[in-house]
Amino acid sequence: LVDIRDLFHHQEDYVGKKITVGGWVRSNRNSKNFGFIVVNDGTFFEPLQVVYADGLENFQELTKINVGAAIVVTGVLEATPEAKQPFEIQAEEIIIEGASAPDYPLQKKRHSFEYLRTISHLRPRTNTFEAVFRVRSLIAYAIHKFFQERDFVYVHTPLITGSDCEGAGEMFQVTTMDLNNIPHKEDGSIDYTQDFFGKPTNLTVSGQLNGETFALAFKNIYTFGPTFRAENSNTTRHAAEFWMIEPEIAFADLEDDMVLAESMLKYIISYVMEHAPEEMQFFNSFVDKGLIERLNNVLHSDFARVTYTEAIELLEKNNDKFDYKVSWGCDLQTEHERFLTEQVFKRPVFVTDYPKEIKAFYMKLNEDGKTVAAVDCLVPGIGEIIGGSQREDDYDKLLERIHELGLKEEDYSFYLDLRKYGSARHAGFGLGFERCVMYLTGMANIRDVIPFPRTVNTCEL
Ligand code: 4AD
Ligand code: MG
Repeated sequence: LVDIRDLFHHQEDYVGKKITVGGWVRSNRNSKNFGFIVVNDGTFFEPLQVVYADGLENFQELTKINVGAAIVVTGVLEATPEAKQPFEIQAEEIIIEGASAPDYPLQKKRHSFEYLRTISHLRPRTNTFEAVFRVRSLIAYAIHKFFQERDFVYVHTPLITGSDCEGAGEMFQVTTMDLNNIPHKEDGSIDYTQDFFGKPTNLTVSGQLNGETFALAFKNIYTFGPTFRAENSNTTRHAAEFWMIEPEIAFADLEDDMVLAESMLKYIISYVMEHAPEEMQFFNSFVDKGLIERLNNVLHSDFARVTYTEAIELLEKNNDKFDYKVSWGCDLQTEHERFLTEQVFKRPVFVTDYPKEIKAFYMKLNEDGKTVAAVDCLVPGIGEIIGGSQREDDYDKLLERIHELGLKEEDYSFYLDLRKYGSARHAGFGLGFERCVMYLTGMANIRDVIPFPRTVNTCEL
C-alpha cells in the first residue's frame, strides 16, 4: 500500500503508475455509469479522489458504500492539472474491507469541536484532528531530539509516589483499600498498614523531585511523561491528566534555565514548521489566522524578560481592565498573563523572581529574602506554558523552608541528602506538553489537543 502523503510529496514517482491505497471513505457520489469516492488514509489530511466506473464487477455494491467504510483501491494514478486536486485514481479494483453503517456520525459537513469531543474515538478521522494529533506526535519527537542531541539523559520518573512536589494538595490518591470499609486505627486515623504500599500514595503531579536526584548524578536530564492534577479548574487550559517535560540541569542557574527553555521552544517551532508545513498551513487557514506569522516572529526575536515586581507595576496601571485586581504578592491569573504577553510585550515573556509565598518550597531564596529564583514563561493565546526555577541548594535554608511550610522532614530526607552530599547549583523547568501543542496549532481548548481528555467531570474511553 502507498501512503497518500507520499503521493502528494512525490507525485512524479507515482503519476501514470498502478498503485494500491487503503483508507476510509469521506464521501461517495455517483451517476448511472460512474462514481467518485473521496478516501483518506490518515497519512495526509488532503484526501484522494477515486474514480470508478460500471466496468467494475462490484459497481452496484460500490455505489452503496457509506461514509466511513474501509476500502482498498488499486488503479492508475492520473494527473488532473485542471482540477483542485493534482491527481486521482482510476480504479481497477475496489475491495470493501469493512463496510460502514449509515448512521456513521461523521457525515460530510462541518462538525463543532464540542460535538466531536463526544466521539473521541472517531474524531481523529477528521481533518482538524488528524492534523492536531500528527503535530502532537511530531512535537513529542522534536522534544526528545532536542534533548538527546544535547546529551541529556531521559529519566523515567514514577507515576505513583508518596510526595506532593508542588505542595498544592491537588492529588489523586492511589489506594487498594475498600472505600466502603476503610480500616481505622484505635485513635480513629486511617490504618495505611493495610493499604498496598503501607502508606498514603498518590499519582504524581510532577517528576521534578525524582528528576533532581538524577541531575545530581548525570548533570543534564529530562523527564517526559504523564502527570496528574486534581485541580478543580474547569478551564480551556487545565486537564487532570497531562504530559510534562521536565529538564533539570546541574551547575546551572536561573539564567541557564531560561536560555535552555527559549532554545527548546524555538527548536520545537522550527522542527514542526519544517516537518508539517501543510498541517501548519491548515491551522493557519482554518483555526488561527495569525499563527504562522506569530510563530515566525518568535523564531526571529528574543523572548522578553520582566521580574514579577516590574510585571505587577505594569499590571497595576491597568487594573481597571481586569476582573481580578493585582497587587504585589498576588498570584498572576490567566488574564494578567495574557495581558503581559499579548498587549505589553507581544511575544513570549519570562517573568522571574516571584514572592516566595506563592511558589513551591524547593525554589531558591533570593538575596532580598522575599522572592525566589522562579521563572514562568508566558505565551500569547495561552498564558503560562512553562514553570521553572533554580532550586534551593543550601541544606539549612531548605530545611527551614520545609519546617516553615509544615512539611514533614522525613518525607524529604532523600531530597535533603542531595544538599548534604555534593550539593550543586541546579535548575529546571516543566513544559506543559498540551499547552505547547495548543501554542503550535492555535487550538483554543486543551480538550482538543489530547486524544482522550480527562477534565473535571469528563473521563470517557
Ligand atoms: O508550573 P508547574 O506546576 O511546575 C511544576 O510542576 C514544576 N515541578 C516544574 C519544574 O520546575 N520541573 O507546571 C509546569 C507546567 C505549567 O507551566 C503548565 O504548562 C503545565 O505544566 N500545567 C498544566 N497543563 C495542563 N493542565 C494542568 N492542570 C496543568 N498544570 C500545569
Ligand atoms: Mg506554574
